[in-house]
Amino acid sequence: MRGLKLKVKLGKLELNNPIVCASGTFGFGEELKGLCDFKSIGAVITKTITLDPRPGNPPPRIYETECGVLNSVGLENPGLEGFIKDKLPKLKKLPVKTIVSVGGFSLQEYRQVVERLNERSEIMAFEINLSCPNVIKGEFSCGVPEQPRLKKIISQDKELTYKFTSDLRKLTSKTLIVKITPEVSDITEIAKAVKNAGADAISLVNTFFGMAINVETKKPYLGNIYGGYSGKAIKPMSLYRVWRVASNVDIPIIAGGGIETAADALEFILAGATAVSLGTVNLVYPGAAGKILSGIRQYLSRHKISDINELKGKANR
Ligand SMILES: Cc1cc2nc3c(=O)[nH]c(=O)nc-3n(C[C@H](O)[C@H](O)[C@H](O)COP(=O)(O)O)c2cc1C
Repeated sequence: MRGLKLKVKLGKLELNNPIVCASGTFGFGEELKGLCDFKSIGAVITKTITLDPRPGNPPPRIYETECGVLNSVGLENPGLEGFIKDKLPKLKKLPVKTIVSVGGFSLQEYRQVVERLNERSEIMAFEINLSCPNVIKGEFSCGVPEQPRLKKIISQDKELTYKFTSDLRKLTSKTLIVKITPEVSDITEIAKAVKNAGADAISLVNTFFGMAINVETKKPYLGNIYGGYSGKAIKPMSLYRVWRVASNVDIPIIAGGGIETAADALEFILAGATAVSLGTVNLVYPGAAGKILSGIRQYLSRHKISDINELKGKANR
């Protein structure tokens, strides 16, 4: 079908198509050069950047289960200055839009990273990672009472989510996306906090908590004992959460969790997503975006839909 419209908007940011590569599964884009077609990717979300460089958690940090992947990478990254010096110049040359994922261990750290990167015109948007499951053990201090066993992911708490989002909103007029955890009892409460605090979009889901144990050695497979679970197995749970947020909160959603095919991506758009994110699938097949985009085009043609945005939230009973 000619004149198919695939462009979508997240705040001020217009993507040529709704497919983004999820943080932590596409490096800083450069590493995937030659393995993917950047034209088929609406935007690349970088690995989460923190103020200081981080070596990440002890190995092993990835364990493949029967139907998904457990990771406990723990935000390994070159830190803010390392990112600016070594990664950003290469990222700038790639023919793809860039969203930088920002993490931290205090609101002050998030602020410092956003403030510094806000000056850079090659960065189109920030995805604020309030949802990493691998960095909460004993090292997080963002206002949660000092109870080592009760450390929280920031987006498990609606007040903290509101505080972080509204504070960072004041620092940038670039598109501000907040990525939240699925590990809450009512995800709509967290999504409302993100919207009310002024974010342009919300990104869900990050990984679910999970673990696996080697019965012979009686040891957990991951060096950090537990990790974040992703991949095909989480798709129904992710889809449900996206549908819940889309049905209750009026904010553009970058949705993902288990997407491997065009049909998977379309399910999330029908549930109410504006854009979709590809994570674990990139680890197996870095060219996945191209294949998925071509499947979406075929679907739209077959259903005589000229604009992808017409499909958003059209799931019915
Ligand atoms: C190896 C690995 C590393 C990840 N690192 C990050 C990260 O640094 N920041 C982040 O926000 N999400 C990170 N994620 C989560 C993904 O971006 C994505 O939200 C999650 O894996 C669910 O999507 P999927 O099932 O398509 O993988 C990581 C996931 C994996 C598998």
